[in-house]
Amino acid sequence: MIELTVDGTPLQAPAGQSLAAVLITAGQTVLRSSPSGTPRGLFCGIGVCQECRVVVDGVVTRACVTPAVAGMTVTTGRT
Ligand code: FES
Repeated sequence: MIELTVDGTPLQAPAGQSLAAVLITAGQTVLRSSPSGTPRGLFCGIGVCQECRVVVDGVVTRACVTPAVAGMTVTTGRT
């Protein structure tokens, strides 16, 4: 198990699991909001649609193709 921070909250997860799986397991199915306020989250799951964008250590990242790494800081765009 590793520990990462999601929106300021510490979270434990299996090392190497996709960040999207970590977030969904933690109950966070909405990862960001569209400009119109529509909730967005995992859609394709293979890195194509970019609906799962979150910010990891200051860089916009697709959660579905990013492995969870110890110490990473994740910011979702949920409003
Ligand atoms: S869910 Fe489509 S790129 Fe991540």
